[in-house]
Amino acid sequence: MSQHKICLLPGDGIGAEVIDCAVRVIGTLADHDGPRFVFDTQPAGHGTFLETGHSLPNTTLEAAKAADAVLLGAMDVAEIPPHGGDPLGGLRIGLEVSASIRPSLTIPGVASPAGDIDCVIVREVTEGLYARDEYMGDDDSAYAVRVITRGASTKAARMAFEEARKRQQRSGKPGLVTAVHKVGVLKLSDGLFLEACADVARDYPDIPYETRNVDACAMELVRDPGAFDVILATNVFGDILSDVAAGMAAGLGLAASACIGERWAYFEPVHGTAPDIAGKGIANPCATILTAAMMLRYLGEDASADTVEAAVYRVLADGEVRTGDLGGTASSAQMTDAILAAMRR
Ligand code: IPM
Ligand code: MN
Repeated sequence: MSQHKICLLPGDGIGAEVIDCAVRVIGTLADHDGPRFVFDTQPAGHGTFLETGHSLPNTTLEAAKAADAVLLGAMDVAEIPPHGGDPLGGLRIGLEVSASIRPSLTIPGVASPAGDIDCVIVREVTEGLYARDEYMGDDDSAYAVRVITRGASTKAARMAFEEARKRQQRSGKPGLVTAVHKVGVLKLSDGLFLEACADVARDYPDIPYETRNVDACAMELVRDPGAFDVILATNVFGDILSDVAAGMAAGLGLAASACIGERWAYFEPVHGTAPDIAGKGIANPCATILTAAMMLRYLGEDASADTVEAAVYRVLADGEVRTGDLGGTASSAQMTDAILAAMRR
């Protein structure tokens, strides 16, 4: 039986609650001929900043690197002052993440009012306008530098084409990579981004490739979600489009993501810390449980990932046990119990 070491970063707000649910689920996989796990819980986030003066202690980053994978809950990034460090950025840069992979999928039983969606956003997450290069100028002005490098763009583009190839093989459909940009305005930075994407596209002649303006892409995503397969984006455009796509499917309660690099990877639900419901035990744990399923695939545990995903989808399709965000009254624990029961069925 295989065994994996998982570094857990519960973080802030509902982070610890949803991590507990995901740990309960993957912790039972050994009873289903799946892997065993050793968990190493480490501090990071706003609470850690208040206690230690740093939001991503070095020991946490080292523990993350020493693990086979990292599972993160949520972090109150907005509350941390600049001198407290940047836990998500620090993790993304420290673990040399190539991109964040954010699938959006209509789930039977959960309405997608704007039409069925089945796409993946591949978002560069280490630079762009979130490079955190900001400074004040004279005369009440402030500047933020948008950093685009050929290196990071190429890595993200490769992830997108690899993802498209996997999806092509799975579905038998032709597949498509859509690179989004605003090159008419950001002529140099998005010019470089598109050049890097086109270079990678030449290595994948079997995968159709197109480019779209980000504003047009946002409109088309809502009007005709079926037109998209893999959307490749720089940091901010990908951040916004991934929330749009999550909203098209079922909201942030089900949106999973994986930040994958060449040596390390970490996995996080797309949602934040939800301070309004933190501590109440009512957060939807599905996003984190589906995120854990992405982690299982990364670890080569495809059968276990299938088991977990199928159980989540079955509970959602049954519709009896649902958290408040999906119109139900179930607690996080009851939702998790239902998923565990579905795994045994
Ligand atoms: C996300 C979040 C983060 C991001 C914030 C909290 C920094 O919105 O993962 O999408 O933009 O990367
Ligand atoms: Mn976001």
